[in-house]
Amino acid sequence: MKIAVLRETAPGEKRVAASAETVRKFIGLGAEVAVESGAGLTASVSDADFEAAGASIGTRAAVLKDAGIVLCVQGPDPAALKGAKTGALVVGGLNPFGAGENGRARVDAYAAAGVEALAMEFMPRITRAQSMDILSSQSNLSGYKAVLDAAAEYGRAFPMMMTAAGTVSAARVFIMGVGVAGLQAIATARRLGAQVSATDVRAATREQIESLGAKPIFVEAVKGIEGEGTGGYATEMSPEYQKAQAELVSSHIAKQDIVITTALIPGRAAPRLISDAQIATMKPGSVIVDLAVEQGGNVEGAVAGEVVEKHGVKIVGHKNVPSRLAADTSALFARNLFNFLSAYWDKDAGAPVLPDDDEIVKGIRLTKDGKVVNERLLG
Ligand code: NAI
Repeated sequence: MKIAVLRETAPGEKRVAASAETVRKFIGLGAEVAVESGAGLTASVSDADFEAAGASIGTRAAVLKDAGIVLCVQGPDPAALKGAKTGALVVGGLNPFGAGENGRARVDAYAAAGVEALAMEFMPRITRAQSMDILSSQSNLSGYKAVLDAAAEYGRAFPMMMTAAGTVSAARVFIMGVGVAGLQAIATARRLGAQVSATDVRAATREQIESLGAKPIFVEAVKGIEGEGTGGYATEMSPEYQKAQAELVSSHIAKQDIVITTALIPGRAAPRLISDAQIATMKPGSVIVDLAVEQGGNVEGAVAGEVVEKHGVKIVGHKNVPSRLAADTSALFARNLFNFLSAYWDKDAGAPVLPDDDEIVKGIRLTKDGKVVNERLLG
């Protein structure tokens, strides 16, 4: 089985879908690995590192020739997959809910190209799949980076400091949305010495916030407080809840120096959590980081790919935050792909065998035998 690792072509994408470690492990399973020249450079992995791990290095056409598996971070242009085997597995973050030619339209093109597209972001949230979950592995580091990005834009220090010249007070940091990214943001801000508070719609997060030494800020006694839908994800909240949440946030936010928002609802636009009027109540020099900016944004006025200033408050809207830590995020992404493929590897066949009735396979398989087959795309 030949595995091709492509150099990413999406603008600003620095990650790579394999590491020297996963190359070695795939070879250990009996596979052959071919890496497109320069694929790892922006993630601090040289061609020589991949070669030393046992991969061959070549042009895109050469690595794709007769490949049975294509590994990618973002979905490659379907036209560029010519040369891969019919039915080749294309495994990566394929953005199936995305609009336009890099989203759903591309899924249709994968079907037409006769490849089997496997979208790792559709991984079901079950214990068995935890080590294969690209959303978790990438969000974790995004939560960390969001705090550092905030610190870089903030004209003051995070920790309290007692100096001979006087005391510097600790920054107040408020995290909105306590999933994987939010939990890591809490931990990172705490490590930097900030006073941290956090909120979420899922009641289960209260204990997690407390266990990290932060203060939970929760809407009390309003229907819909559970906020948890299937698979541990949030649901959309009732208008009554949204109103109570807005009031609570208004009074809290005016006292914060840094706010980091991470709230997402699967398959929908990100919920709006901070209005322009609320930003106007914050102190000048405060910083907001909107990690949901590419999904519609939690913060009014946030612009994807830009740092804007409103009412003296900086609003940070970096795109593709995982790519800003490409060496680490690539290593974890690569392991997610390896953990998935190796779990289904059939030694005799020398290839992964993906049963049609398997929960993980059903969850992530988008196309097969020329057709779009995923329930979430057919509905
Ligand atoms: P996410 O990225 O979909 O959302 C981020 C956070 O925003 C969530 O905690 C969500 O409740 C919150 N949120 C949504 N609407 C909000 C609102 N209006 N106000 C405030 N907060 C709002 O979620 P993520 O980070 O992917 O994880 C959600 C849960 O799934 C976590 O409990 C995590 O531990 C669990 N999980 C389980 C996995 C497994 O078992 N394989 C893998 C990954 C995560």
